[in-house]
Amino acid sequence: MLFRTQRIPSLFTKIRCMSNIPENSVYGGPKPQNPNQRVTLTHLRQKHKKGEPITVVTAYDYPSAVHLDTAGIDVCLVGDSAAMVVHGHDTTLPITLDEMLVHCRAVARGAKTPLLVGDLPFGSYESNSNQAVDTAVRILKEGGMDAIKLEGGSPSRITAAKAIVEAGIAVMGHVGLTPQAISVLGGFRPQGKNVASAVKVVETALALQEVGCFAVVLECVPAVVAAAATSALRIPTIGIGAGPFCSGQVLVYHDLLGMLQHPHHAKVTPKFCKQYARVGDVINKALSEYKEEVMNGSFPGPAHTPYKITDTEVNKFANELQKLGLDKSAAVVAEKINTSSNSKD
Ligand code: KIV
Repeated sequence: MLFRTQRIPSLFTKIRCMSNIPENSVYGGPKPQNPNQRVTLTHLRQKHKKGEPITVVTAYDYPSAVHLDTAGIDVCLVGDSAAMVVHGHDTTLPITLDEMLVHCRAVARGAKTPLLVGDLPFGSYESNSNQAVDTAVRILKEGGMDAIKLEGGSPSRITAAKAIVEAGIAVMGHVGLTPQAISVLGGFRPQGKNVASAVKVVETALALQEVGCFAVVLECVPAVVAAAATSALRIPTIGIGAGPFCSGQVLVYHDLLGMLQHPHHAKVTPKFCKQYARVGDVINKALSEYKEEVMNGSFPGPAHTPYKITDTEVNKFANELQKLGLDKSAAVVAEKINTSSNSKD
């Protein structure tokens, strides 16, 4: 850890006040508040009012959270897409609340500025509103998130969203393709492609707004349907595969960075996702070079072998080894005197 703090000192001068501390609070709290420190719902409302697009990206761990923070992304979503892009599952269904909490905590340590939203995973909120509130509370208390996201717009889901808001927790809704519902949707299928489905998208988004959601994700719907929802709602719409007429956009971190370049993954990268980089290629190249250099002995060379011991100490060390009956080791050590290899401690 010492090395990390030396390499990135600026991170350690930015302390995130975990969980939701509104900038206009009447209470001081234990830490001095800096209004520029974090994005809040008020910031999002202001951006939305001014017509400024809201940027959202998923993150699942400390490094991805630091990257989002550094890039000035507004909202960091700890999505249950972690099940697929981090844990390698085919769907989002298997990830557990405890696993999500681990991701949330790591992200909370890394993202000091963005609003942090944690997904309620499948199986953690469907039974009743009490279960939904309990799960949402854990996401904030144990995960260090500022808000939660839940999928769907069935009456029971709307009731759950209402109960969570009433419990004092900000809720982001999610309609259109809701990946946790692939069982009833019959797979990862775009929604809103006929009149009934398009109307349902808009009505569901409105219902989520009415119970107090602060934003709604619109996933995989035609752009015109997203435009209708965006115009009908007072709260921001955040599109993913929903075209340009949303109040903001969200993409999955691994998808936008082109992290998974293996043909299997390339095949399942969503059609709507623009890859802003091919980070996976960079990673593959680096790992191959590392392997090659370890194999041919060129790594670690003198530049990466920093710890020295004086020749006098080496002599004494060789003597001690001999006393211990480790003659072979003593000979190896003696051989290293005055050579550039005398550099391991
Ligand atoms: O889990 C996730 O990453 C999401 C986004 C795709 C919106 O829900």
